[in-house]
Amino acid sequence: MTLAPAAPDRSGRGPGDTTGFIPQAAPRLRIGRFGAAVAAAVRQVLESDHYGVGPAVARFERDFASYLGVDHCIGVGSGTDALAIAFRALSLPRGGEILTVAMTASATGSAILLGGHVPRFVDVDPRSRLIDIDRIAASAGPKTVAIVPVHLHGYPVDMPRLMTVADALGLPVIEDCAQAHGARIGGRAVGTFGQAAAFSFYPTKNLGCAGDGGAVTTNDGDVARRARALREHGWGEVRGRSEIAGLNSRLSEIQAAILCVLLPQLDDGNAERRRIAERYRRGLSAATVAGRIGLPPEDDGSVYHQFAIEVDDRDRVREALFAAGVGTAVHYADPLDRQPAFAGFATGPLAGGDALAARLLSLPIQPEVAGPAVDEIIERVVRAVSQG
Ligand SMILES: Cc1ncc(COP(=O)(O)O)c(C=O)c1O
Repeated sequence: MTLAPAAPDRSGRGPGDTTGFIPQAAPRLRIGRFGAAVAAAVRQVLESDHYGVGPAVARFERDFASYLGVDHCIGVGSGTDALAIAFRALSLPRGGEILTVAMTASATGSAILLGGHVPRFVDVDPRSRLIDIDRIAASAGPKTVAIVPVHLHGYPVDMPRLMTVADALGLPVIEDCAQAHGARIGGRAVGTFGQAAAFSFYPTKNLGCAGDGGAVTTNDGDVARRARALREHGWGEVRGRSEIAGLNSRLSEIQAAILCVLLPQLDDGNAERRRIAERYRRGLSAATVAGRIGLPPEDDGSVYHQFAIEVDDRDRVREALFAAGVGTAVHYADPLDRQPAFAGFATGPLAGGDALAARLLSLPIQPEVAGPAVDEIIERVVRAVSQG
């Protein structure tokens, strides 16, 4: 498979191998690393008569469920759809409030609103950067129907503790695992704790395809059956006969075939991310400007979807790094409560998330990008910070 060069852009994408620019992420390099197997898998689909939901989707669903240790996996069109389908499969009452965080991708909030529910944002703990579990009970009210913890940047939320709180409140939990494929707590994978979970296979994810894809996971057979129906027009046992109103949100055979090739590489890729994170941690904490760089929390269960440092003058540092040939990204500069679609849904002041939003800066961590360049990136980060 030949990979054409592309110019770097402000998003931090671009090759790096032809221009010297180190992109924040380059999904084509991940696909390209396993290019021959990916090409063969795609060719096999193209030569089959199954382009929608077929044998590759069934195989991926089986493999991913077994990888996670969950009873059911249902492949769908995207991570956003996976959340929306999970909400409907759980029959959450319309108009009900769903507790989640504002420090997340807009998809989390969109899926809640599109399902006819109301997001209610709970602040994050600024140290873990994840939902502040101690605030959940006080944020729940008579209209609360569910909790959506987000495993941000690949860090697992403390699910045993969160489930204890949720169970005491009688609330179902839908885990947003879009950034945390393979993240574990005490050896147990995220996506297996709540009543359901949603995964995204967007190309830049730790497990990504070459377009859009997602999955719902659950241990509940009824939820699985409903999710399976919802992804294809609400069809039940009889194809073409809608038992409930559904969507067209299939995981396609081509994407599933690519995911079947990449899934066996996930743990190695996550281990490489952990090693890169460790090198960043060592290099940055030994630097003269170490006091001005906040490091992400240490957690062996994290799969480092992002390695986000904290710096006071984040936008200046980002510009300086771009000028020095290093792409970065910000996850997230605008917490959801500050975006027009989600304004007014905070449960109170979200000071923890606001402080992070002003300071977070995601360095390259994708193994194919950062692996060969981590020392160079550290050097340029130190230089960029010390220029301020
Ligand atoms: C936390 C989070 N939730 C949900 C999604 C939605 O996934 P997708 O882009 O596949 O719809 C994403 C992906 O961007 C995400 O990062």
